[in-house]
Parts: sequence; structure tokens; C-alpha cells
Amino acid sequence: MSSNIKKIGILTSGGDSPGMNAAIRAAVRTAIYNDVEIYGIRRGYQGMIEGDIYRMEAKDVANIIQRGGTVLKTARSKEFMTDEGMKKAYEQLQSHGIEGLILIGGDGTFRGATAFFKQYTIPAVGLPGTIDNDLAGTDFTIGFDTAVNTAVEAIDKIRDTAEAHDRLFIIEVMGRDAGYIALYSGIACGAEDILIPETLTHINEVLDRIDNDERRKKTVHIIVVAEGDDFGGAEELNKRVKERFPLLDTRTCILGHIQRGGSPTCADRILASRLGHAAVTALIEGQTLVMAGVVNGNISFIPFANAVKENAPISKDMLEMIRVLAI
Ligand code: F6P
Repeated sequence: MSSNIKKIGILTSGGDSPGMNAAIRAAVRTAIYNDVEIYGIRRGYQGMIEGDIYRMEAKDVANIIQRGGTVLKTARSKEFMTDEGMKKAYEQLQSHGIEGLILIGGDGTFRGATAFFKQYTIPAVGLPGTIDNDLAGTDFTIGFDTAVNTAVEAIDKIRDTAEAHDRLFIIEVMGRDAGYIALYSGIACGAEDILIPETLTHINEVLDRIDNDERRKKTVHIIVVAEGDDFGGAEELNKRVKERFPLLDTRTCILGHIQRGGSPTCADRILASRLGHAAVTALIEGQTLVMAGVVNGNISFIPFANAVKENAPISKDMLEMIRVLAI
């Protein structure tokens, strides 16, 4: 494949996600295979502003497919949200002769990109890299499968001890604005209740369900709550549970950042490899301002502005299932 673009930059931005390294590896090797020079931009948009940019060779991405985190490092750059920051970033790209960009990140990354490319013209293709799974244009984001499996492993362990003590457990999983990790891990672990930011939490109904389970002598009650649920996280919820059921033995567990780390699952490695390859190929072929995703098993592309969370509604059938499967 011959290309007009001879030098591209690659960055990871926002919260890291397992599989970002596999995506970087695939993108770097696809670029080099096609005689395109590729430059790593460290710490996302912040590194772009500061010109923290280095040439990458095929060997630089050896032995990283199995590693969590991101060898390019990542950041959430406030400065990039300003006109001045964007101007500096663009000047750095020009001074390094970078003619195209590969962006790996989540909702914030594509919002940032949309604002930047309104003002500056440089071809760019994105990849969905976030544990939150809150992007449109792809069935799954890179890192979600690993994060959910981490949560499932932890919740299964908690269920063992909850059952041994006849306890109610409230487990808080990540997802400041998105309930995918809570929904998937909750369903996979047979949670009695799942609370997510996408649906209003009616606290009295949650408490009534606990009451009902108590009357039926259900010994374990597992509630999975997303950190961004409208009612609050595990601690707020536990306070209300304690007020209504002072004799109930309850515990909370906040899974936190363990969900973001670890070796990516096979599904995440394959997704990341396919998307890294597809994104560079698309950039070389002249596509721009689109995010690569996999929809129904096939590679597809969606404009940056449409990839954002608002266009990625949570599946209704899964929401409806929660109550049915928890009887
Ligand atoms: O966007 C991914 C994510 O892990 C969210 O689920 C979470 O709310 C947030 O990042 C945490 O960000 P930080 O690591 O900056 O505290």
C-alpha cells in the first residue's frame, strides 16, 4: 500500500485500559510494514503540547501485547481544553513533521479531538480504549472485557464469604458516567440488584427488595453499584440500608483501580490488534476524523463527534433482565 502520509503520531489518552499496548503494537507494526514512520507521543494530549515525541521501531513494541497499562503513558490534559493548549499541540506536530494521528482513548479523548479538529486540519483516526465501554460505533471498547472479568472474579470471591456469614454486600465498580461494568459484572455474578447511572435509582424500591429477600430468607444479597450511580456509591447506599435494617450484617467493597490493570484477556488483545491494524490502514487510505470499531464482528468507522457516550445507550433487554433473574 503506498501512502501520501509518511509520518504519523500515536498517543493514548484518558484512563488507561488493558489492551492499549496491544493496540499500540498493532498500529506501530502496521505503519512500519507500510513504510510509514511512526512517532510515540507520551502522556496523551499533554505530551503533544510539550513535544514529548519519539520515533518508534518494530522492536519497541516487542513483548507488550500481554501487558496492561500503556507504554506511551497517559494523562487527562486540562491544558489541551484551552485554545492556547491546542495551538501549542498543533505547532509541536508541525515542528515534528507529523502528518497524521492515531488516538487511543475514551469519551473524553474523542470530545477533545472533536474540538481540536474544528480548528486544525490534520488527518486522524481513533481507537476506542476505555474500560467503561461507553462509546458508540463499536460493540465493545478495548479493556472492557478485561475489566469486567476482573470485577467478576472479585465479586465471585465476595459471594463466597458473604454466603458464609449471611451478609449483604454492596460492591462498587468503576464507571463515573457509565454502568456497563456494573451491568455486565452484576448479571454475570447473579447480583440481587444492579444500580447504574443510566437509570434512576429509587432508593425505597432498593430497600423494599432487600426486605423482600429477608422475608424469603435469602441468605446472600449482593448489590453491584456503579461509582457514578445517581443515588451515590457503596457508602451512601450502605448508610441507608443500615438506617432501615439496623440488624442486618452488611459490608461494602470498592473494587477501584484493580479493574483498570492486569494482563488483557484474549478478547481484548484480538480487538486491540484488529483495531490498531484497521486504524493505521484507514489513515493511510485517506480516512480521517473517524473512530474504528467492531460492529457485529466487522470493522466499521464512525465520525469522532458521533462516537461519544450519548450515542451508546445501554441495552434495554439487559436492563429488563435484572429483576427477572434476581427472583
Ligand atoms: O474512564 C475510565 C475510568 O476508570 C472510570 O471508570 C473512572 O470513573 C475513572 O476512569 C477514574 O479516573 P482516575 O483514574 O483519573 O481517578
